[in-house]
Amino acid sequence: MPTEILTFKKIDSTNTYALKNFDELKDRTVISADFQTMGRGRFNRTWVSESMENIYISFVLKPVETKYLANLTQYLSVVVAKIVEKYKVTPTIKWPNDVLVSGKKICGILCESSSKTNLTKGVVLGAGINLNMSKACLDSIDRPATALNIVLKREISKEEFLSELVQTFFEDYQEVLENGFLCFEKDYKERIDFLGQKVHVQLRDGDKKVEYTAVDIDDCGNLVVADKDSHSKTIYSGDLIL
Ligand code: BTN
Repeated sequence: MPTEILTFKKIDSTNTYALKNFDELKDRTVISADFQTMGRGRFNRTWVSESMENIYISFVLKPVETKYLANLTQYLSVVVAKIVEKYKVTPTIKWPNDVLVSGKKICGILCESSSKTNLTKGVVLGAGINLNMSKACLDSIDRPATALNIVLKREISKEEFLSELVQTFFEDYQEVLENGFLCFEKDYKERIDFLGQKVHVQLRDGDKKVEYTAVDIDDCGNLVVADKDSHSKTIYSGDLIL
């Protein structure tokens, strides 16, 4: 369970707040906000945070010892996907950690580490989940995006989703710290649908997008691809464009 839940009406970004106050915040603190004025996404993108009925949440995690920090984002994507399924909606996961419904993004996850002189003190794991958004707001996003209220044609209770999210995340969190990807590999792989497809991979912001065939997700959660000469390559981090 979380040690503390901090809720804000308006904040620049729950991740930024968590990183700025990292040393004072206890391990397993959860930060949630109604609005973000400077919501951030992966690859320096903006995360549209105008709807107060969406979820903007950050988990402050300070595991004493784990080699599985990178798997926490994938674990959170599985947790979100499982909760979405409780609403009788079938989501997919796009490597490494986007949750999509009908190919459109419904949840994005941003993991940032806090470190001092090369020593990682822990991570801030942030998620934005589109629960209730207007069509106009979704259309203003420059990538395919959707929200649960649009899919289900009814309003979604933020309170209900949020409490389910926090509770479910901490249920297996300790096990993930100890055993990494293996303990949720099946749940993750059951929800991906891009293996065997031609995909584009961008390793870093500004890098060119390279075309591969997606082949597998290995035991550690990395993406295995094949280039046009069938040479296989392991991708440890990056963005996948389907
Ligand atoms: C992505 O690009 O897919 C990641 C989006 C992450 C957005 C969440 S919202 C809560 C937390 N605070 C932020 O500024 N970003 C993350």
